[in-house]
Amino acid sequence: MPVMKDIRNIVILSGAGISAESGIDTFRSEGGLWERHRVEDVATPEAFARDPDLVLRFYDMRRAAIQTKEPNAAHLALARLDAEWPGELLIVTQNVDDLHERAGAERVLHMHGEHLLAWCTACDTRSPWTGTLIERPPCPVCGERALRPDVVWFGEMPYRMDEIYAALREADLFVSIGTSGAVYPAAGFVRNAREMGAHTLELNLEPSKGTRWFEEARHGPATQIVPAWVDEVLSAAS
Ligand code: APR
Repeated sequence: MPVMKDIRNIVILSGAGISAESGIDTFRSEGGLWERHRVEDVATPEAFARDPDLVLRFYDMRRAAIQTKEPNAAHLALARLDAEWPGELLIVTQNVDDLHERAGAERVLHMHGEHLLAWCTACDTRSPWTGTLIERPPCPVCGERALRPDVVWFGEMPYRMDEIYAALREADLFVSIGTSGAVYPAAGFVRNAREMGAHTLELNLEPSKGTRWFEEARHGPATQIVPAWVDEVLSAAS
């Protein structure tokens, strides 16, 4: 760890691994989502155009499932860090669940969208959504039946990239938690942060695809290694 008094700005990237112990499937582990469903069938704009019922049913099931899950010790630890860290902090999550927020974190950016929002492609507004979309409900804003899950599919541009790169430019510490490093642009953030002089740390169950890019790596279940790291950071800073 670098000397914590030199650290003011922290950027955290989280992925499916942080929610695994809450019972939400990851994508690329054995038995993960992309083993049971083909990306090309459910997670591309072409799939939605070809078979909207299949895609809407898939996301309706996922939206229902996340609402039965609870944040775990790793989400709670990051929420505590967010509340107590006096400097800049941004949790950039690739996750479309709301477990960071339900744990109490506020400085959260969903670069791959959110299950609990529906996006109207007619009027381009996002509405809070907990129910289903399969029956083509009208948009609560314009009334058109043009709602889709507000989830970034393969081939679409992740959200709020300007804000993310601005935060990475200012970061003193970049921490990647529970992500395989298989999907860009998120997988490239470690190199962006390093080029700008940030210390880089990986917290993951196992070495990720990009583990060699990190100056430091700790491996184990998120519910153990994330709270331990947060304790360390907050006590070194106080
Ligand atoms: N604690 C920490 N890490 C874990 C745990 C755990 N309990 N369980 C699994 N992991 C790790 C795995 O070892 C793996 O490296 O989490 C990572 C999950 O990787 P992926 O399933 O590839 O998920 P993620 O990196 O978030 O995927 C990125 O891919 O399909 C898209 O849009 C989707 O946002 C997603 C993106």
